Amino acid sequence: MKKVFARTSNVERFILSMSRLQNRQEGIPGMALVYGEPGLGKTKTALWWIAQNDGVFIRTKKLMTGRWLLEEIVAELGEAPMRRISDLFRQAQEQLLEHPRTIFVDEADYLSHDARVLETLRDLHDITGSPIVLIGMDQADKKLARYKHLYDRFSEIVHFKSLTEQDIRMIADQLCEVALSDDAISYIAGQANKFRKIVVWLYRAEAIAKANSLKTVSAQHLNGAGK
Ligand SMILES: Nc1ncnc2c1ncn2[C@@H]1O[C@H](COP(=O)(O)OP(=O)(O)O)[C@@H](O)[C@H]1O
Ligand SMILES: [Mg+2]
Repeated sequence: MKKVFARTSNVERFILSMSRLQNRQEGIPGMALVYGEPGLGKTKTALWWIAQNDGVFIRTKKLMTGRWLLEEIVAELGEAPMRRISDLFRQAQEQLLEHPRTIFVDEADYLSHDARVLETLRDLHDITGSPIVLIGMDQADKKLARYKHLYDRFSEIVHFKSLTEQDIRMIADQLCEVALSDDAISYIAGQANKFRKIVVWLYRAEAIAKANSLKTVSAQHLNGAGK
């Protein structure tokens, strides 16, 4: 398997939303929500984007408080977190004003019960103008909709959808070391619609090709391999 990042249709929509977020006009709020079922590539896509743009990545923890979140943000922005929560907020604010960066908050579902933490993120965005992107699970849009002042600031909402047959073709062409016939792609689409599972099928295809000296793997070869 080639270790490359595949540009699926979800990824393309993510890239467009992020560039609109960076280039938005004055007065347009700059928060975004990225959501969808686990395993569709939300985290990976955010990390890939950060690798080539200015951004920091915060992985939310279940027990995270406002202070803990601010400490992580300040540390990711490259400063040693101070003790008092008011100092932490000021540190984050000064860093972002000096050097605006997009903050990605992954697993934001953990914060969806905590209005104060969400309001802290909103305040940080309002004061600094730096984009803040919340990444969450499938119902994250509904969970967050009740925080109207937050929700109103989502100028971009990216729904990561189940991978389509076309996505699987794209992923196979970019990652797999062996060619797959169209019926093999349809077969995989019938078995899996998440990245991890699709990659498992691509590994199987590579193994089958190797064992049988095949140039192209078809549905018939795959059928039975997953059992
Ligand atoms: N575009 C991509 N190209 C290559 N591998 C990917 C891509 N998107 C996701 N993956 C892989 O698929 C798996 C699931 O992705 P992840 O980002 O953890 O999903 P999510 O955050 O939506 O639950 C990971 O192993 C990840 O490395
Ligand atoms: Mg994730």
